[in-house]
Amino acid sequence: MKLKRAVFPVAGFGTRFLPASKAIPKELIPLVDKPALQYVVEEAVAAGFTTAIFVTAEGKAAIEDHFDRNLRLEAFLASKGKEDLLRTVQQVGSLVEVVAVRQKQALGLGHAVLQAASLLGQEPFAVLLGDDVIVGDTPAIGHLAQVHRETGASVVAVMEVPQEEIARYGCVAAQPLGGGVFRVLDLVEKPAPHQAPSRLAIIGRYILTPAVLDELHRTPPDPSGEIQLTEGLRRTLRREPLYACTFPGRRYDAGNKGDFLRATVELGLAHPELGPAFRQFLQEVVRGLGATSA
Ligand code: G1P
Repeated sequence: MKLKRAVFPVAGFGTRFLPASKAIPKELIPLVDKPALQYVVEEAVAAGFTTAIFVTAEGKAAIEDHFDRNLRLEAFLASKGKEDLLRTVQQVGSLVEVVAVRQKQALGLGHAVLQAASLLGQEPFAVLLGDDVIVGDTPAIGHLAQVHRETGASVVAVMEVPQEEIARYGCVAAQPLGGGVFRVLDLVEKPAPHQAPSRLAIIGRYILTPAVLDELHRTPPDPSGEIQLTEGLRRTLRREPLYACTFPGRRYDAGNKGDFLRATVELGLAHPELGPAFRQFLQEVVRGLGATSA
């Protein structure tokens, strides 16, 4: 079955990014010259997804606007002869079909995904989290889609992290099958490091079958009142196999200020127009650092 729809849960307050995210959705804060979320949407488009379902919330309508056409702006740029900018804004507005649904209460990632259920029908779909920006030559979600095509099952992206960091992630107990693919045996959301079954952390890329939605409908909230996607997946394991796979590209946690800064520097260096001058600037900064520490 062709994978067409990708769900982007973007309803969160972005508390880790305050005060920057007070009035601007954190997903629209730019990495160099593009909103962080645009990298993630472009990844899905590169993998063949044609519909973006944004699970959004009050105060976050700018996300829909960003991926919509803006005919007034386009007419303005055309009248000023700014062809390059015109192409840039038209391109963003034409990337995907945009659908927006509201998550009316912040009740967790599983709950966010459930808000899209009536739009997903009985087809498998992708979930991409805006906080995980993955940059590379081939789209990470396309890699998961390939494993899904081979297995017909749900697939989650995983990455090995240091044991002390596993408490920030969903974690899988899994049997390696080779080529970076694993059969998932169990999952646990944000385990204490000494209780984690592995160091394999779930990164925000998923291909999910309709059975996961079914199970999410029945998943009770955790002690903090949130319905966890990880728990929905754990329950799905009783009826279907589940796979995990590593992915190509470099992943940044764009919800973390330090990682955001690192992403800005690396993407700045890789930028075709800005990169060369920025590299020179950084070299000067590093030389200056050498001089002060000497
Ligand atoms: C969510 C998921 C978690 C996953 C993580 C990836 O957590 O619940 O399983 O490992 O995304 O970024 P959050 O970061 O929203 O707390």
